[in-house]
Parts: sequence; C-alpha cells; structure tokens
Amino acid sequence: MLKSAEEIRSLHEHTVTSDYRQHYHIQSVTGLLNDPNGFVYHKGAWHLFYQWCPWGAVHGLKYWYHTISEDLVTWKNAGACIRPDTFYDNKGAYSGSALPTDDCVYLYYTGNHRDEDWKRSSYTCLVKLDDDGNAQKLEHLFGPNDNYTEHQRDPKIIHNKENGRYYIIIGAQTKEKTGCVIIYSSDSIDKNWKFEGQLKVPGFENFGDMWECPSIETINGHDVLIFCPQHITLPGRGGSVHHSGYLLGHMDWNTLTFTPDNTRFHVLDFGFDSYAAECAANPDNKNKATLIAWMGLPDASYPTDEEDWSGCLTLPRELRVRDNRLIQQPLDDLRRLRGKKIDLESTDELPRVCEAELISRGGDMNIKLFAKADGSGGLDISYDDTAKTITVDRSGLNKRFNIELGEQRVRPLPKGLFHLRIFIDKSSVEIFVNDGDAVFSTRIFPTEDESKLFIKGDASVHMWELNRAIDESFVVD
Ligand code: FRU
Repeated sequence: MLKSAEEIRSLHEHTVTSDYRQHYHIQSVTGLLNDPNGFVYHKGAWHLFYQWCPWGAVHGLKYWYHTISEDLVTWKNAGACIRPDTFYDNKGAYSGSALPTDDCVYLYYTGNHRDEDWKRSSYTCLVKLDDDGNAQKLEHLFGPNDNYTEHQRDPKIIHNKENGRYYIIIGAQTKEKTGCVIIYSSDSIDKNWKFEGQLKVPGFENFGDMWECPSIETINGHDVLIFCPQHITLPGRGGSVHHSGYLLGHMDWNTLTFTPDNTRFHVLDFGFDSYAAECAANPDNKNKATLIAWMGLPDASYPTDEEDWSGCLTLPRELRVRDNRLIQQPLDDLRRLRGKKIDLESTDELPRVCEAELISRGGDMNIKLFAKADGSGGLDISYDDTAKTITVDRSGLNKRFNIELGEQRVRPLPKGLFHLRIFIDKSSVEIFVNDGDAVFSTRIFPTEDESKLFIKGDASVHMWELNRAIDESFVVD
C-alpha cells in the first residue's frame, strides 16, 4: 500500500522527464497503467479511471486512478480513488464500471483477494463517489461463484430501463476452461444481488479460455457484446493471444441470451496495442457511445519499462454502427487541438506530436513515419490497391518490442482506400482508415535518428501540430 504520496514523488519527477511522455493521451501518473475503468458522464464532467500500479512498470497491486474532463479532450489528474485497503481487495482493486445517479456515481469493481496460500477469490465491490470527489466503500455485493474457476472479474453495471432491474455482467471462466460471461441482477443498486446464470452466446461456447472486461452496449438500436477473449490466436493477429473485440446481435435479458447476427467476431482495433475497451454512453445522443481502450496488451513489455513507467489510453472514439460493424471516429472536438499547420513542401521533418489527414485520389500509397534520413526504417503504412489491403509494419523502427506477437498487421479494404487520419503523439500512432471503418493503434518509441516523413502516392495531405491536452501534475491523494 502507498503510505503517502511522498513515497512516489521522486518517481513522478523522474517519469515526466521521459521523451516518450504523451501530450494528449491519458498516461500513468507514475508506474503502470492498464485498463480504463468507470468511464461515465455525470453533471457536466466526464470521469475516467484507470488501473494503476504506482511503483513501477509492473502488474503489481492495482488502484483506480481518477481523471476528469469537461470535453473528452483535455484531462486533469484527480488522484487515487479506489485503494486496495480491505480484506476483499487486498491484492488489487481490479477493473469495473460506473453508474451515475442524481446525487453521486457508483463504482463497481472486482476486489482481488488472495489468502495466505495465494488462493484467489473475486469479490464484487461497490464505491460511492460523491460530487466532492470523496470515495466511500460500501458493503461488498457478492463473493466468488463456486461454479466457475477463480477467474471472475470486471463487473459492468447495466440499468435495464425496460424492466427497471440492474444487471452486473462479469467475465469468467467455466470449470471446463472456456471463457464466458456470468450475470447477476437486483432491484437495487447496492443490495439484493442474485446470480441469474451464464450468458448464452450461440456459436461462441468455445472461444478462448477466459473473457475479460465484458460489456453490452446499445448503439443505433444494435446490441453489441464487447469482450476480450484470451489465449486464442485469430487470423491476421500475428502471435497475439489477447484480443479486444465485439459481436453485433440482440440481447434478450429474459432468456439471458445474446444472439449474434452472424458468426463474425470483429476485432476493435487492427493495430498492435489495444485491449480492455470501456464505453461510456453519450448523454445527449442515445445512438452514440464513446470508447476508450488501453493502448497496451497483457503479458507484454514496453521500452519505457526500463524508465519505470508504462501505459497510456487510446483517444476517445465515437462509436456508430454502419454496414454491420462498429465505426470508430476520433471525436470532432479533437480538431481544437490543432496548432500550426505544417508546410510539407518545405520540410520532411515529422513533428513528434501532430495529426495528418490524407485524402487519396486512388492507387497505391506508402507512408513512412519516423523513417531515417536515407528513407529506410520507420513505421510503414502501405496500401496495395491490387490486393486491396492496408498493412502497418513496425519492424523498421530502432526500438522493437513484443516481436513474438508479430510486427505486421493487415486489414482488407474491399472498397479501396480513400481517407486516413493519423494521430501521432510522443509514443503512439493511431490510424483511422476510411472514416472510422478500421483503426490501427500502436505504441512507438522513435529515437533521435528517426524523424522523417515520406509519403508516396496520389493524395492531398494536410498536417497540423497538436497542442498539449493532458496535465502532468502530481496529484495522488
Ligand atoms: C485486463 C485485466 C482485468 C483485470 C485487470 C487487472 O487487462 O486483467 O481482467 O480486472 O486487468 O489490472
């Protein structure tokens, strides 16, 4: 446990000097960040928490760290919110979600308990966060379910307005070692919770051995089951065994059945680093939701580990359903971060914090970000108009990492390539293809001799420097 903020002040001072600190992506205040948690809009502000291990780039004891925004663009550090300081969460306040009410926000999370023999038990715990930011732990809601293995976590709270009931869905593992979702329900936020059963997902009874971070969203009248199946490989995903994806379909809360529209599990992100996506409903528009994910992967390591920090979140993305899949677009308000326009006629230097927009006039396209002066290396983005595929390859960068998971990702674009928006921050690149039809997110760690931009192809290109949008202040208490 953190005895006081002072314990990590010098770690923070050292962390913020890193050349890889992001300028407009939420990142760990110190130590390690993984999943986004409890993403919610409440009384004029967006609240977003992240899994946080304060002491270093390790998946050690987890806290919920709190960040706040009024516009989803600029974010302020608000300090540690849930601390692993009870019997129920003695080995971590694990992931979960939020429910806004008139007078406060409720946070549901997994208390990761281990006994002296290191046997794990998951408790579903509740915190009441008042409007002054005070977090009060309430009585835990229920303990582990003996019909499943020890892997039960990541409660998503859902208020079903049709029958008035509250549901908590939890990622779990059956005793046969298959991934699944289990469901609890209640007529009340903080008591009377009872086990309802296992979610039936026809066609997906044997799909990975554990499902982490499940969620059911309704977007444009479509139900979407989002989850992270573990320990399976998928075509086009290299050696990666952890995926963040979704099924479109229909949720029937009476029979606890999610019937997928087809047999297709879509990955949310075609890039290398994306996991544990979390959605917040849009308060003004029921057809939209905003998604944010961890720009990282479990069981992976990153070059800043040696600087004792790791992890950032993706940009928030607006979700819609189009052509039977989720479309992810960068929020419109992100345009407000645009600063100086870059004159590409006069420079081939790529700013470390910028946005590029490319409108293709057809044909092949090749873009190299952070290449060397002789044109070699860099993050290579290429579109092959004959094969109708777009490929992102990070093998040419000096700092290579997680090589065994594959350094190339390919996505078919049957209708061709017409539009790209690329967001570059100090240590990440997010590529939005064809108006949100596909997204590639990747961490990158360019070195001094990697600074050039090369574009080949017939396209009009615009580029802007982007202003800082997150704060680096040391707020812990
Ligand atoms: C996903 C995850 C969750 C868990 C959390 C712990 O990355 O493993 O299942 O709650 O991270 O930090």
